[in-house]
Order: sequence, then C-alpha cells, then structure tokens
Amino acid sequence: MKVTVVGAGAVGASCAEYIAMKNFCSEVVLVDIKEGFAEGKAMDLMQTASLNGFDTKITGTTGDYSKTAGSQIAVITSGIPRKPGMTREELIGINAGIVKEVTSNLVQHSPDVIIIVVSNPMDTMAYLVHKTSGLPKNRIIGMGGALDSARFKYRLAEAMGCPSSDVDGMVIAAHSDTGMVPLMSKATRNGVPATAFLSEEQQNSVVEATKVGGATLTKLLGTSAWYAPGAAVSVIVQAIACDQKKMIPCSVMLEGEYGQSDICLGVPCIIGANGIEKIVEIELTEAEKEKFATAANAVREVNGDLKNL
Ligand code: 2OP
Repeated sequence: MKVTVVGAGAVGASCAEYIAMKNFCSEVVLVDIKEGFAEGKAMDLMQTASLNGFDTKITGTTGDYSKTAGSQIAVITSGIPRKPGMTREELIGINAGIVKEVTSNLVQHSPDVIIIVVSNPMDTMAYLVHKTSGLPKNRIIGMGGALDSARFKYRLAEAMGCPSSDVDGMVIAAHSDTGMVPLMSKATRNGVPATAFLSEEQQNSVVEATKVGGATLTKLLGTSAWYAPGAAVSVIVQAIACDQKKMIPCSVMLEGEYGQSDICLGVPCIIGANGIEKIVEIELTEAEKEKFATAANAVREVNGDLKNL
C-alpha cells in the first residue's frame, strides 16, 4: 500500500509519522514545493524507524509527482494554515489554487487514488476536488469530523473527569468555528448518555469549546494544530488500507442525504477499501437538524466564492 502526503509542513509530517508508525502500509511519499524540505522530513522520520519500530519506507520529493505514481491513497495538506484570529474560510483565495493543482498532479500519476482533503476551508476544498478531479464521489474524503470528534471527546472527558477512552461522541456538519454540530444527544460514557453526567451549562460549554477547538490551538500555537489533525488522518488512511468498515464522520458529497445536495459536509460514513462505502443517515433532534441546515447554508456560500477565483 503506497500513500502520498502532499505538504511536508507540521500537519503533513505528522500524517506521515503516524501512518508510518502504525506499520500498515509499505510506503509513504512526502511531497513539498520547498527545495529539500520533504526529503529532509522523510529522512528525519526514517531515522526514527529503529527507535519506533516501524518498517514503512518514507521518502520525500520536491514537487516530482512521478515519485507518487501508483498511490492508492493521497492526503492533501498543502496550502497555508491560519493565523490567530483568522477563520478557515479566509484561506480560500490562496488554498483553492494550490489544491486544484495538487489534485490534477495526483490524479495524473495515480488515476485510482482515494484523496483525503485536509487543506482549509476543508468542506469547500473537498467540493473543489470533486468538481475538478472527475473522481467518483466515494474516492474523495474530507477530513474534519474525525478531528472535531476527537476534540469533542477530549472536552467531554475533561468535563466528566474520565479518560477519553471511556467516551464516545461525534461531530457532524461543517469543519468551521460556527458550523460544527457536536452531537451531545448521542455522546456517551461507557454507553451511558453523557447528559446524565453533565448539567445543561456544562453541555453547552463542551459544545462551544469543541467548535472553537482549532481556533483555541491556533491562538496558543500561533498557527494551526498538527498532532491531532495528523492522527485523525492516520485513522482514516488505516480504515481504507485495512478495509476496516469504520464509521467516521467525514466531509462527503451529499446527493439528498440529510436534505442536502451538491455540497460536501461532515456526516457519518462507513470507511473501507473503497473509501466512502456508505453514508449513514442517523436520527437527529430538531435542533441538530436546524444547526445542520444552517451550517450547510454557510458552506454553500463559501463554495460560491470559488466561482470568483
Ligand atoms: C484544525 O482544526 C487544521 O482545520 C484544522 O486544526
């Protein structure tokens, strides 16, 4: 199994590191435009192989997409990350052109590739990949919900004073500070509804802290986060590589599901060897349905900006 990661910055390198360390694929190719940067990151990571016990071969290339040929999976992290105070949507002007070019380079050398989109504004970038790549909808996966759900579980565990491993929770809709919908009604602690442990006020603060999870870290770090995004990508890559049939909230092209069409939004999906194998339509509360529709309207507006680029 060959996996390409485009963008050897903090997020891309973290993707490569977690994918390699899990030892389920033979090769990871890191691509960047900065001379020597991907090669350096790959070499540094390879020098952890004997220490971290993985056999995955990591290589780097400066923009030579022939080195990515035959990739079954490709992760697009390239583009600029946001700065403190910025929204993800403000990155569209620069990142749309980069994502478009990267996509055509990837598909040219790996026509059967499954693309995982990380670059922001992610839901709109996933939509752009659909509109420009010609790939079937099951082979374009926007990574947002997996990361946001991890942050939701972190906040739930913090509020309930328990390990994150005791917690389950899912975030759907948009990967944006205002358009995320953490499903508090479905969150659990060892199968027990989280609402049994948390007051209304605690539930609201968990939801709000989840929604701005990325912005909180950008303020602290001065740039976007990378560990959790990288780990979230590695979970999706492994679900594909090992045909795990895992249910993961991912941004996918909707064709009527959840009352939406011609838009990419985060919904529960079964992820396996064919990428998006099934979109799972779950019961939402009236309030959750309303928030989902509001998030969709906001993403549709950002999608509309693509025409002006
Ligand atoms: C985040 O939320 C980079 O959008 C990503 O951290």
